[in-house]
Amino acid sequence: MKFNNIPKNLPSHVAFIMDGNGRWAKKRFLPRKAGHREGVKTMRRIVNECFEIGIPFVSVYAFSTENKNRPQDEVDSLFKLMEEYFTEFLSELLEKNICVRIMGDVSYFPESLRNIIADAIKKSASNSGGTFNIALNYGARDEILRAVNVAVQNGKQLDTAAFSKLLYTADLPDPDLVVRTGGESRLSNFMLYQCAYSELFFTKTLWPDFSQKLLYEILNDYSARERRFGKVKP
Ligand code: FPP
Repeated sequence: MKFNNIPKNLPSHVAFIMDGNGRWAKKRFLPRKAGHREGVKTMRRIVNECFEIGIPFVSVYAFSTENKNRPQDEVDSLFKLMEEYFTEFLSELLEKNICVRIMGDVSYFPESLRNIIADAIKKSASNSGGTFNIALNYGARDEILRAVNVAVQNGKQLDTAAFSKLLYTADLPDPDLVVRTGGESRLSNFMLYQCAYSELFFTKTLWPDFSQKLLYEILNDYSARERRFGKVKP
């Protein structure tokens, strides 16, 4: 059953906006952090699945620049989950030859978490079996402004290829497909430059409920889409 129905035309890069953890918990009369905990399990399962079926680049929106304005105990529980995730699953990622990349400014994260993240990046840097790109304290407007300021300082005009190299995603292909769970149909400051021609898929499914079956349905939907990148059909 596992490898049935894998579409031929897979995206090279799929990005997930993992929304709905809080509502998943609320429906079960659980604290929001229980939803995030379940969300991490789902992330691990789905990201592994993507690599296993042959998608080489996977991005996730794990913590936005706006998320730090949530109540401190929720922010702390997310930090704790991140520490646990990297501690428990780094060996799995290394075993699978996955390279970990972070996009965002983690300078304000607790030192212990920053050290764990730096260790994951360092240990996996030369891995070539897939790239797991995690957005942490990330916002696309911040990312673009950061790149513009570097460009201004360098005093040179840039083309799109050179500008792309100043983004956190330097050397990663743009996402072919962005999936957002939780029922909202928006990008919420996620990879705004890189998503210019991405296919978008919105589902009401809450992130912790996201399944392999739904992943395959979305990939099948993607593979049937005609991507023209602004050109006319030949
Ligand atoms: C959105 O749900 C989800 C988040 C703000 C956090 C998502 C993060 C994870 C699943 C994992 C953490 C990352 C790592 C790398 C371990 P929400 O809380 O906004 O849900 P709601 O809209 O139902 O309230």
